[in-house]
Amino acid sequence: MNLNNPLHSCFEKPSNKTKVTKKCLDELSLFYKYIKPLGAGITALTIRISNNQHDLAIKMMKAGAAAYKEVDVSCKVNSMVNYSPVFNTTHGWTICKGIPKEWASRIKDKDYGDAEKLKEAIEKNQKILFLALELNTHKIDEVGLNENDIMLSCFLLLHGIAVARKYFPYFRHRDIHMGNVMIMLRTVKNSVIKALPDITVKLPSDESVVFTLPDVVYLPKLIDFGESRFQQKGHTDDVPEESYQSFEDIENTKFAPRNDIRRLKDLILKLLQQRQIEDSEIDSFFTSCDYKEAINAERNDYMIIEALLKNPIFERYNILSNVNFERKKKKSCWGMFCQVCASPNPKKTYDTNPHYAFCDDVCEQKYKTFRQFIPYTGEEVYE
Ligand SMILES: Nc1ncnc2c1ncn2[C@@H]1O[C@H](COP(=O)(O)OP(=O)(O)O)[C@@H](O)[C@H]1O
Ligand SMILES: [Mg+2]
Repeated sequence: MNLNNPLHSCFEKPSNKTKVTKKCLDELSLFYKYIKPLGAGITALTIRISNNQHDLAIKMMKAGAAAYKEVDVSCKVNSMVNYSPVFNTTHGWTICKGIPKEWASRIKDKDYGDAEKLKEAIEKNQKILFLALELNTHKIDEVGLNENDIMLSCFLLLHGIAVARKYFPYFRHRDIHMGNVMIMLRTVKNSVIKALPDITVKLPSDESVVFTLPDVVYLPKLIDFGESRFQQKGHTDDVPEESYQSFEDIENTKFAPRNDIRRLKDLILKLLQQRQIEDSEIDSFFTSCDYKEAINAERNDYMIIEALLKNPIFERYNILSNVNFERKKKKSCWGMFCQVCASPNPKKTYDTNPHYAFCDDVCEQKYKTFRQFIPYTGEEVYE
């Protein structure tokens, strides 16, 4: 039997019309050896496989619109790997009926986690989509990042989000949390003495501005684009509570805000907290007007996020650029944005708390109604 590499490249898009060949499963198991499960969520199981030369991650999902969209996003992300190191290479995808027998025999029931539908689809020999990705080496909370590593990660992730929004202005990841940021351990081949090459990244809006990051051992990698959006309507078709992503008082709400910049702040603070690192300068970066403005900029230009990269805090972690940025005066951001629609310079203040401002009565009313049906419980629901 003549067997080919089963993967379609990112130049092709999966759909219900994609031809599923009889040889598909034979090809998969010939080319890739099953190694172990890596993790499962609600819809997918990701496994580690090897093709003798190198190992890959394969995310398996029941074929259908959601899976096709995730391939599309992954492929768009793949087009940015040269602009930001936080993105993994997407090697390709394929659709087969079921999964190779040998893989199935080695995957235990518990490996599927909550991915019941996937398990059922595999058992019923339905169409399964396989998305092949560059393999990351570690989960972010298992490598013991120190303060320096954490702040380097913070910088690179902010930079990556700015890059994504430069090329795809409405890009939002929408699911940033501990489980969706991984680590790629950087090592120098055959040497323990040689230094790692510096990482350099360019300012998205001006590629002549270059930041140099020394000694990045733990490279953060943004994964899982299952909730991501690229369309403008991605900002408005969230379930109602999620569309309030620009609330300044997001701590006081029960829902999981899907705001990338807000989620990144939570992730970084959590990582610092785990290492018991307390630093007022880091806190003041995250509570600064610039950071708040970036949180509120979900509908705006990537340059607002990019501006954070110029914050002097990063110089303390040895992230230096080839130009000197003008030091901006600290500005006051009191009531700068409507708490509901994020418009600047809101006119109306909330009757009981003047910290909250709204552009008009409609926004204020929405806020009040919203607060009524989602009481504050203090829980974080998205992890
Ligand atoms: N490229 C990868 N390299 C290594 N592990 C991965 C990779 N992608 C996913 N994983 C592991 O699998 C888990 C689930 O993958 P993810 O894409 O987040 O799927 P889900 O949509 O199920 O959350 C991740 O938390 C991670 O541990
Ligand atoms: Mg995930």
